[in-house]
Amino acid sequence: QTGYVTLDRGYKNTGATKSAITFLDGEEGILRYRGYSIEELASKASFLEVAYLLIYGELPTKEQFTQFESAIRSHTMVNEDMRKIFDGFPVNAHPMCVLASLVSAMSGFYPESYEGNGDENLDIVRLMAKLPTIATWSYKRSQGHPLNYPKNKLGYIENFLQMMFALPVEDYTVDPVVAEALNILLILHADHEQNCSTSTVRLVGSSQANLYASISAGISALWGPLHGGANQEVIEMLEEIKAGGGDVAKYVDMAKNAKTTGFRLFGFGHRVYKNFDPRAKIIKKAADDVLSKLGVNDPVLEIAKGLEEAALNDEYFVSRKLYPNVDFYSGIIYRALGIPTNMFTVMFAIGRLPGWIAQWKEMRETKEPIGRPRQIYTGSTLREFVPMENR
Ligand code: SDX
Repeated sequence: QTGYVTLDRGYKNTGATKSAITFLDGEEGILRYRGYSIEELASKASFLEVAYLLIYGELPTKEQFTQFESAIRSHTMVNEDMRKIFDGFPVNAHPMCVLASLVSAMSGFYPESYEGNGDENLDIVRLMAKLPTIATWSYKRSQGHPLNYPKNKLGYIENFLQMMFALPVEDYTVDPVVAEALNILLILHADHEQNCSTSTVRLVGSSQANLYASISAGISALWGPLHGGANQEVIEMLEEIKAGGGDVAKYVDMAKNAKTTGFRLFGFGHRVYKNFDPRAKIIKKAADDVLSKLGVNDPVLEIAKGLEEAALNDEYFVSRKLYPNVDFYSGIIYRALGIPTNMFTVMFAIGRLPGWIAQWKEMRETKEPIGRPRQIYTGSTLREFVPMENR
């Protein structure tokens, strides 16, 4: 079989498709969505504008944006019958398992999405509109708080924040510093070409599975600690370092002896970026800005900087070109915004949703064939069946 199969484990050197959505240059540390730099988008655009850009290919005109935003607003509520599924989870179920399950369940509530007579744009709007609502349910229930409903007079990010943090017993007003920080983080997570979870969304969609099922698969792939789950791992690692007295050198050594310790420095390294992840640069700066504006003094930020300093001066990391990635500083900002650690990867999913949708849509429009890689077989050669009494 090896005659015509080239093995490329983890697809390290395989291009799976052509795409016009996101451009990455791993050597130069460049990231652009539809040709616009993330530096410009993160400082000048809103997350919904960027979502529109990724999904439909152009920055929206005022009229297009108003239409997109109002369509999303009129779909933010979730069918009340979804509460029955939601209420079936243990109260401390990880929010990523709840999110993946309820997004998959959406195909059950909108069967036209797989019966072939659906409206793709409506499915897109439903996902954009309902993901934040579903995401906040897990958090509120884990706190024993009543679930909040969306308030459609608010913007996308403000609505998410009020669903996360509002309590019936007091007024809640969104802090613009918090909303702005979240806008930047969601934009920076919005797409990243053919990463693990996006490739999953495309592969599932390539079998003609519906958009909800494909996105649910992407959420599951993102959950892994080597992928989006790393942002939760980073904070847990930094907390452990802090609890142990802040000895970052010890953790750098543990990572260098990964073969024996099995330890990885979460938030470091990247398949494509062999230079600083441009998102990490922006997030690191934003962490300083946001924490000082909010008057938050988080010792974990200094530990993170110390760890980065120690690693970037160590041959093991420098020779392997292991730099901080998008997950290294993001959790420090989420924490300062009051978002609990087990919701960090959910935040990644809310940010990545427009990218997943855009990639799925492009895969369908370009009529990509069903994904079906080959293998190199290493199992037994032909052998005869042996009846159980003779085994
Ligand atoms: C994301 O693909 C994307 O674009 C993903 C993402 C996106 O936006 O979608 O950018 C989001 O997932 C960011 C990455 C988050 N994950 C982590 O922070 C987990 C820690 N990082 C690693 O596990 C690793 O760096 C990966 C998974 C990110 C990349 O893995 P690769 O490309 O398969 O690299 P590798 O595992 O082959 O590592 C190469 C070498 C190995 O050492 P040697 O075998 O050469 O001796 O570097 C070592 C690894 O052991 N190494 C690390 C390390 N990462 C790699 N050693 C210590 N700490 C680390 N973090």
